[in-house]
Amino acid sequence: MENWVRVLLLVVCLFPAMVECRVRNYTFHVVMKNTTRLCSSKPIVTVNRRFPGPTLYAREDDNVLVKVTNHVKYNVTIHWHGIRQLRTGWSDGPAYITQCPIQPGQSYTYNFTVTGQRGTLLWHAHISWLRATLHGGIVILPKRGVPYPFPKPDEEVVVILGEWWKSDTEVVINQATQSGVAPNVSDAHTINGHPGPLSPCSSQGGGFKLQVESGKTYMLRIINAALNEELFFKVAGHNLTVVEVDATYTKPFTTDTLLITPGQTTNALLTADRGSGKYLVAASPFMDSIVAVDNMTATATVHYSGTLSSTTTTITQPPPQNATPIANKFINSLLSLNSKLYPAKVPLTVDHNLLFTVGLGVNPCATCVNGSKVVAAINNVSFVMPTFSLLQAHYFNISGIFTTDFPGNPPIIFNYSGNPPGTSPANMNTMNGTRLYRLPYNATVELVLQDTGIIAPENHPIHLHGFNFFQVGRGLGNFNPNKDPKNFNLVDPVERNTIGVPSGGWTAIRFTADNPGVWFLHCHLEVHTTWGLKMAFLVDNGKGPNESLLPPPSDLPTC
Ligand code: C2O
Repeated sequence: MENWVRVLLLVVCLFPAMVECRVRNYTFHVVMKNTTRLCSSKPIVTVNRRFPGPTLYAREDDNVLVKVTNHVKYNVTIHWHGIRQLRTGWSDGPAYITQCPIQPGQSYTYNFTVTGQRGTLLWHAHISWLRATLHGGIVILPKRGVPYPFPKPDEEVVVILGEWWKSDTEVVINQATQSGVAPNVSDAHTINGHPGPLSPCSSQGGGFKLQVESGKTYMLRIINAALNEELFFKVAGHNLTVVEVDATYTKPFTTDTLLITPGQTTNALLTADRGSGKYLVAASPFMDSIVAVDNMTATATVHYSGTLSSTTTTITQPPPQNATPIANKFINSLLSLNSKLYPAKVPLTVDHNLLFTVGLGVNPCATCVNGSKVVAAINNVSFVMPTFSLLQAHYFNISGIFTTDFPGNPPIIFNYSGNPPGTSPANMNTMNGTRLYRLPYNATVELVLQDTGIIAPENHPIHLHGFNFFQVGRGLGNFNPNKDPKNFNLVDPVERNTIGVPSGGWTAIRFTADNPGVWFLHCHLEVHTTWGLKMAFLVDNGKGPNESLLPPPSDLPTC
């Protein structure tokens, strides 16, 4: 944006009553803070000394400015997970994809406008494993005067689910990478920063307490900020009505259990329809494969006003860890609201038909503990992080940083899902490379994400930056291009930015490439991202300035 336009906008927006525009200014100081949880004390990286970090509030159409200053010894970037960043890829945040990191002692101001989105999202660090403690909520309110498409809740509460390691997560991942084996699983899950009243050494007064009044309705803005685990979420004695996921409205439906993958967000209404009492809230892992997870259940309490403190808490049994039917029931209940005001704009024709295998494998490694290391790949390409930002390389035409030959289909055809088990090859011939898939502006894309069973089938929550997509289909086994598309939902499929690919199955998504720039696609299980389960789309500019990437801001960090 021209500087004078920005100044004019700032001045005009000082009087928000006069015009429909607002500027929201935030200051993030990335600093260390000493904290005690789970019987251990350690310094953690935080924003403004808070864990979880501060919630960012904005209204649809607001211009958000966040000045991030890095006071720690690590390089840092912040990603506004799910924010479309139309033409503002410079503010997206993944390190070496859209920007060089903010180095110790430096600052960078993220500058973006919230367009066509309302609901809950999250922000988090997007470099190494720093997002373990560097994360917080984003609340996008509808435009002034526009109601929610559901009864207005009496109160709203941000509920952030996380994962906690007793040791330093940067050490955990660095040791794992050197040795080639899987990193340790976490030591606890957390709800708003606390493992909860059932945890053996819970400090902080027994965990997060949601104080409610009988008869009122509460909207929980639930965020899974965990690094590596999908979570079930339940409240004893209460049902939850889902109304929105990933900042898009859904057809409301009622359930006793939510499933939420890392990177996903869910708004759910909880009606305090009991007279009084204390009710346990539980967040527990979902894993329907042989992969090890942290099996600790995080807890919190819904506490009715007027309840005696001696009252015993009504507990709830979390679903079994491998409760695939409960997970499927929840996922299959999710549909776009698809109303007149909020239509589901599903692409009905497809320009690019892509099939990406996503999964793990083993590669030789002379320096590793077992002579081999775990790797992860998409279409047999283990993505290599560049040391310079891809978006800058693209914008300034700097060659030698990436290639645009990412395969649109698996280079080797095999029994991807390994159903029956053991029928995938033991080796997928992983190649390394910083390869991008190039799309013209406004191309429509159908992408089938196919899990592989090379080590073991596993659920992969895949996140796409810069776009929302529609989940048009989902199934078990190998995707069948002749049969499966006949059952696609092109009317009201759920719209989101992060989607679980089922263990030993596939998920089909569609999106329109209406956002020029370089956009990361990766598994939101951070350990899989580390191992290479990531790639990027390069979307060309369209015609004229409104369809083109803006120039980089002057304070963009350098590498
Ligand atoms: Cu929430 Cu690329 O991540």
